[in-house]
Amino acid sequence: MCGIVGYIGSEKAAPKLIDGLKKLEYRGYDSAGIAVLDGGVLRLEKRCGMVSELEYAACLSGNAGIGHTRWATHGVPSQANAHPHACGKFALVHNGIIENYGDLREELESEGRVFLSDTDSEAVVQLIDKYYEGDFLRAVKRAVERLSGSFAIVVLCADFPHEIVCARRRSPLVVGRGKKGAYIASDIPAAAESAEEIYVLSDGEFAVVSDREVAFYDGDLRRKTKKKAEYDRQKDIVALNGYRHFMRKEIDEIPLSVRNSLLKIAENNEYRNIYEVLCLTEQIQIVACGTAYHSGLAAKYAIEALARVPVEVCVASEYRYRNPVVKRGTLVIAVSQSGETADTIAAAELAKKLGAALLAVTNVPYSSLTTVADYVLFTVAGREIAVAATKSYNAQLASLYSIALALAKIRRQRAGKKTLFALPNLCKKVLPSVEAVRGWTPHFVGAESVYFIGRGVDYAAALEGSLKLKEISYIPSEGYPAGELKHGTLALVRENTPVVAIVTQRRLVEKTMNAVNEVYSRGAKVFLITCFPEICGRKEVFSSVLIPKCREAFSPVLSVVPLQALSYYTALARGNDPDKPRNLAKSVTVE
Ligand code: M6R
Repeated sequence: MCGIVGYIGSEKAAPKLIDGLKKLEYRGYDSAGIAVLDGGVLRLEKRCGMVSELEYAACLSGNAGIGHTRWATHGVPSQANAHPHACGKFALVHNGIIENYGDLREELESEGRVFLSDTDSEAVVQLIDKYYEGDFLRAVKRAVERLSGSFAIVVLCADFPHEIVCARRRSPLVVGRGKKGAYIASDIPAAAESAEEIYVLSDGEFAVVSDREVAFYDGDLRRKTKKKAEYDRQKDIVALNGYRHFMRKEIDEIPLSVRNSLLKIAENNEYRNIYEVLCLTEQIQIVACGTAYHSGLAAKYAIEALARVPVEVCVASEYRYRNPVVKRGTLVIAVSQSGETADTIAAAELAKKLGAALLAVTNVPYSSLTTVADYVLFTVAGREIAVAATKSYNAQLASLYSIALALAKIRRQRAGKKTLFALPNLCKKVLPSVEAVRGWTPHFVGAESVYFIGRGVDYAAALEGSLKLKEISYIPSEGYPAGELKHGTLALVRENTPVVAIVTQRRLVEKTMNAVNEVYSRGAKVFLITCFPEICGRKEVFSSVLIPKCREAFSPVLSVVPLQALSYYTALARGNDPDKPRNLAKSVTVE
């Protein structure tokens, strides 16, 4: 999703901006641009396509500048719609959505103003220009007061060559200070390389960033002090280290992510407050999007099986617009790798308003979700760069299983601690399946559609396998409960349709194999992922991959690994970049 950078200091801004934009590329974008202030003159350069196409602009001189990678929401990807947007003495970059931009545009146009783009963002810079009477910060404040929706904005003004003004409401923005100047970015790692101090802007705050200092203001422009963020730059260094793609590297990092994310909540004083809220929990609602939603679905089986606590799993974008029932004793768990997903944050805010206790499970310290939640559990997957989530899914499962374990203990159910803490080792043992599924790709690469089937936890894993495949290989696919096929979807199965069956639960082997037989009889090629060697050789199975056995409730943490790998190798075989799928963004900060 949109990425923002800014720099002001003793060095040339343009190369720093381009460098910063490259660090934000992983978020997903379709166009990029920068603006620099050179001797009181604003210079803008923008391009459709990759940041690399903007490298020519690194020669621009000027010590203050802003940059942006755009993921189109209002207006097609085009040079005109790319940021920065300019008006009068101002240039602006924006991340978020201005919900009342239609009204604002109408008002501004009726005053004779001319818009050069179709974006909602241009209305903001036009408003700043309208309200400008010589006070830069006040003009931004007056404009911001007129906005509904979400924004992080960073603004340059030709009259103030030594200042950049920032404002934020529900979209992330950080400011860093280093020896050679100040750095602004959408996430900490993009600002942190040269900064010694990092500050995370809160909702409703403004910052005036100069080459000498960073000043923070509240919504009424009262100066305020701010605590530095704790950040370990060394821990956050990401490199391919010999891998061709981050996705492949991140799959190999699964055992470590799981190991680092498993917690003994009931036994560790650090989690005392979480333990206490679990003691009061009668039911759980999990809100999340995409892969995080799928980890919630998989965890539901574990929490209900281990602790006998009812769990409802809700797509966050649905939850936020329905009228959810939040009874006394409801714990809402918002799961989000980035902690910046707009729908998940909105669902979490609603749950809190309705009286639920709110626990965030996220991979990113200082993310917006952490500021909304009453309690936070960090998954420790390390930075995930590939748009397709892999190790973060497994880490989320590890955190959610840890919650299941604590709940089981509280409710005096047989907990299965040993089996949980055996998972990192089993994750290591499942890694050979990554290369084993590589041989399957010729059967998938030209497929019109693919089906993933399973029951219970295997159905949860099937949903994630299907999402992975469609996301990076662009092959239509569906994850389906094995028993439901014959109620409709079976009509789509034809000669050579690849069907991936996941079978990890002893009592359901024959039940799922019935469905396998049904698709086989209609010509499907069946690919099996199982921990039961005895079913691999059956005639209806075209090819199989054996994964380690574990406690059934936890099996998605293992069975998902060959599924992730299948999507990776299929995407490669189709000539796609698995790390940067078309149309998608890593962090979905708009609704
Ligand atoms: O950062 P989040 O976990 O909140 O992101 C949620 C989804 O956008 C994300 O999981 C998405 O579905 C992944 N790209 C899937 O691989």
